[in-house]
Parts: sequence; C-alpha cells; structure tokens
Amino acid sequence: MSNDMYARAWDKTAKASSDGTPAAPFSYGGAGGQIATPTQGAAIVGAMLDDPTIAKLMADESVNDILVNGTRSIYVERAGKLERIHATIPSDAAVMKLADEIAAQTGKKINLSRPLLDTRLADGSRVNIIAPPLAVDGTTISIRKFSKKSITLDMMAQTGNISQQMADFLKVASACKLNMLISGGTGSGKTTLLNAISQFIDPDERVVTIEDAAELKLQQPHVIRLETRPYNGGAIEREEEVTMRDLVKNSLRMRPDRIIIGEVRGDEAFDLLQAMNTGHEGSFTTVHANHPRDALSRITNMVNMANLGVPVTAIRGQIASAINLIVQISRMRDGKRRVSFISEIVGMESDIITMQDLFVFKQTGENNVGEIQGHFEWTGIMPRFLRRAQYYNQGDQLSHVLGVKLTS
Ligand SMILES: Nc1ncnc2c1ncn2[C@@H]1O[C@H](COP(=O)(O)OP(=O)(O)OP(=O)(O)O)[C@@H](O)[C@H]1O
Ligand SMILES: [Mg+2]
Repeated sequence: MSNDMYARAWDKTAKASSDGTPAAPFSYGGAGGQIATPTQGAAIVGAMLDDPTIAKLMADESVNDILVNGTRSIYVERAGKLERIHATIPSDAAVMKLADEIAAQTGKKINLSRPLLDTRLADGSRVNIIAPPLAVDGTTISIRKFSKKSITLDMMAQTGNISQQMADFLKVASACKLNMLISGGTGSGKTTLLNAISQFIDPDERVVTIEDAAELKLQQPHVIRLETRPYNGGAIEREEEVTMRDLVKNSLRMRPDRIIIGEVRGDEAFDLLQAMNTGHEGSFTTVHANHPRDALSRITNMVNMANLGVPVTAIRGQIASAINLIVQISRMRDGKRRVSFISEIVGMESDIITMQDLFVFKQTGENNVGEIQGHFEWTGIMPRFLRRAQYYNQGDQLSHVLGVKLTS
C-alpha cells in the first residue's frame, strides 16, 4: 500500500471511529487526561474492538503478549515462548481500524503524521503501535496484556522462578530499605519481579512511582503514580513534553519515602542516583541488561550520555554508594524465567565498582524435553548489610534465611 493510500484509509477509519473525541467510557488516559486505576478486564476491553481474533486473544488468559505484524502474521507469547497463530487480520484497512479503535479507547490518535503511539488500555494492558511509513510492511501493534493475578515472590518460588531462600532474602532486603536494581532482557519479567518485591514495602510509607506507561500494581495505601507525557510529533508539542527526568526531579519535592521508576532508559538515571544517595532509601528500578555487570555499565552510560560533565569515576562512585543490590532475571532458552543472580555492590576498588554474587542459578544440563536443569544456590558469601538489617530489626530474619549465625 502506498503512503497515499494509507493516508486515505486513515482518514476514513479516523472519521469512523475517532474524530478527536475519545470514546466516553475509556477517556481516562492520554494528553491532558487523568489516570484512572484499571477497571475493565482484558476480555471486556477486547470485546470493544471490532476484530474477533484480537478480542479472543485478549480474553485468553494464557496469552501474555499479542503481536500483530500488519496483515502478515499474528504472534502470541505463552509461557515465555512466542508462537505464531493461524489467523491473520484480513486487510490493511482492518489493521488500521484496530489501531484506531485502540487509540480512540485511550483518547489518543494514530495517523500518518503521528505514526507512533505508546498507550495503556483501560484494563492496564500496555500497547505500542507503529504505522507506515515507519513500519515498512504495515501497521504493527504490540500488546503486553495486563496480568490480572499479581505474582508474588512465594508464587515465583513455587513455580521455580527463584528459590524460596532467595525469595525470603529479597523480602528482608526490601524491609531493610536496600536500593535495588532489577536487571533483565526484554519480557524477562522485570516489572513483574519489581511488583512482587514491592509488596514488602511498609504500608506506612509514601511511595511515588514514575513510569512511561503506568504498569506497576502496588498494593500499599499511600502510592502516588506519575506518568510521563512524551513528545510524539503530534498532539504534544515539544514544550508540553514531560520527561522521566522532570518527574524524578518533581518527585523529590513530594516528600517520598521511596521512589520507584518503572524502567531507567536515559538521563533520569542521574537524578535517581542522586535521590538514592540523599536519603530516599528503598528505591527500586529496572534496567534492560543481560548481566549485573552490564546493568552497571548501562547506568554509567546513561549518566554519561546526559552530558552533565561528571567524570566516569565519579559516576561509578555515585552508583557504588547508591545501589545496594542487583537482581538479575533471565528468560532462559526453555522459556522459563529465572532469577539468575542476586549481587551486592560492596564499594569501589580504584575506579572499578566491586560486587559480590550472593545467589546464583547454576545450570547443570537439559532434560530430554529441552527444559534447563539446575539449582539456585547461596554462594556462602555473607551480605555486607548485616548492620543495616539489625537497624531495621531484620538481623535475626536474615540469619534465619541464610541458616547461619551472623555477627556484625
Ligand atoms: N514469573 C512469571 N511467571 C509467569 N508469567 C510471568 C512471570 N514474569 C512475567 N510474566 C509475564 O510475562 C510478561 C512479561 O513480563 P514483564 O512485563 O514483567 O517483563 P519485563 O521484563 O518488564 O518486560 P519489558 O522488557 O517489556 O518491560 C507479562 O505478561 C507477565 O505477566
Ligand atoms: Mg517492564
């Protein structure tokens, strides 16, 4: 389809389904809108869409991600694995109509001059749409479905994502207000793990969460959710853009006990480190990296790219004093998600950040159906935060979890 044809088709579907006024029951998000808590189930949200295939996949609880590649194919992710389904969407116009309906549900627009959209459906599902000419082979829609059931650390231990000992260790770490970085590849379960760990935040604390698209589901009564307002070359003008960095700075004036950033990607890393170093203990974030060491270099690069003139050694020093634990999660070859490292940052040696692995997943082999075999283990290294654990009245619990007597 040529750009011209797309323009005409967009024009038609836009007239039919979103003439700029968002559909009433869903008009909670988007530019200038207010953020509501998720109220609609995925099945109901799916049923609002005209496409029967997508409606069915939205209702299917075993599906985590729905990936529509124009008219060519639809893939879903189930149990950590991608699979192609038989159905496709019959025409470019139908794909665009679907994109348009999703945009309209969230009070936003997608068309030739605004070909990129990041949004969140009424049930909390996260959606990215990219249209031609940017998506060369047709409008591509990626839906990360909101999972209704909250996955807890104990549930993760039962399903073998983590050992019970590691889960109990993370509960202590959260109660001791350690600053944690959750690191993992795309779709590895970082946000899910962050949610699970944050269940151990004291309900008396004031927590500010900052995200590009609000996904976190904190259960505590005193949570303030902030969401960025990106510049997308369309509805939002440059001067109206509100970035992660703006929100992190703003959050510092909101008397937060903890600050949780959904994912650090850019120069907000600098402000987060500052916040962690200036008394906002127990702050968490996620970062896209495949190993705890890579996570540290990614954060260093993010601060470096912000061009604030801070020398690399000073950035590393900031990181070493700000972050206490790195929790690495990996979606392994067999589709299963496993916490592969819990590493503690212990300081600096000349200009290198020193780290010790407290827990690791040791792979021993693979069974005949391709499942990875192995075990989680405590390396026997004593965590350095014992004094802090005692201060937060968690010393005995930490000894109990590790099964050793700890002395400071
Ligand atoms: N331990 C788990 N058990 C079962 N399903 C899980 C688990 N962790 C994550 N999932 C599912 O996998 C999908 C991806 O998880 P999540 O959003 O936490 O990953 P992510 O690493 O934050 O992804 P992204 O890189 O896109 O931000 C979600 O649909 C989630 O419900
Ligand atoms: Mg995530």
